[in-house]
Amino acid sequence: MAIRMICKDGEAVLRKKSKPVGRINDRVTQLIDDMVETLKDANGVGLAAPQVGILKRIIVIDASGEEGAEPIVLINPEITARSGAQSYYEGCLSFPGYYGDVGRPEAVTVAALDRNGARVEYDAEGLFAVACCHEIDHLDGVMFMDKVKGRLYSAEEIRQMREKEAEKADKPDKPDKTEKTEAAAKA
Ligand code: NI
Repeated sequence: MAIRMICKDGEAVLRKKSKPVGRINDRVTQLIDDMVETLKDANGVGLAAPQVGILKRIIVIDASGEEGAEPIVLINPEITARSGAQSYYEGCLSFPGYYGDVGRPEAVTVAALDRNGARVEYDAEGLFAVACCHEIDHLDGVMFMDKVKGRLYSAEEIRQMREKEAEKADKPDKPDKTEKTEAAAKA
């Protein structure tokens, strides 16, 4: 396994459409292993193959927020159903340091193949749903800042927003946007 270089905004590969994976051969499984390693190293929520310069429809996602969790691998992912609406301050490993408010469905159903080529389906909600949408957008050359409502915010501004929200949240068991803001910051 190896950590691959993450392409940054401005690199042409990020704006191209990725091709479906045909046969899951050794090259593909090697790429998946490297993407998982790269995602963990970057402490991210999700990573799409074009972000490491490969135009294949593969994404890896870890929206669990748990230390040491194994990312979910989705090959040729498709959103087959969506419902509701939510907005998060999303960030991107290919656009470090900036965050923006993006509207997404609250829940999506994603159909894909796993790394063994078996059909899988996930009902994703909350941050998992955000990450699925964000990463599948990467496969079509779309970046989160194309969809941002309002302006982009720096990491420092997001930190200050989180502090204010934490002050406002008098009860810890209240639905807390702070947590979501922090979690979504690395999609
Ligand atoms: Ni991204």
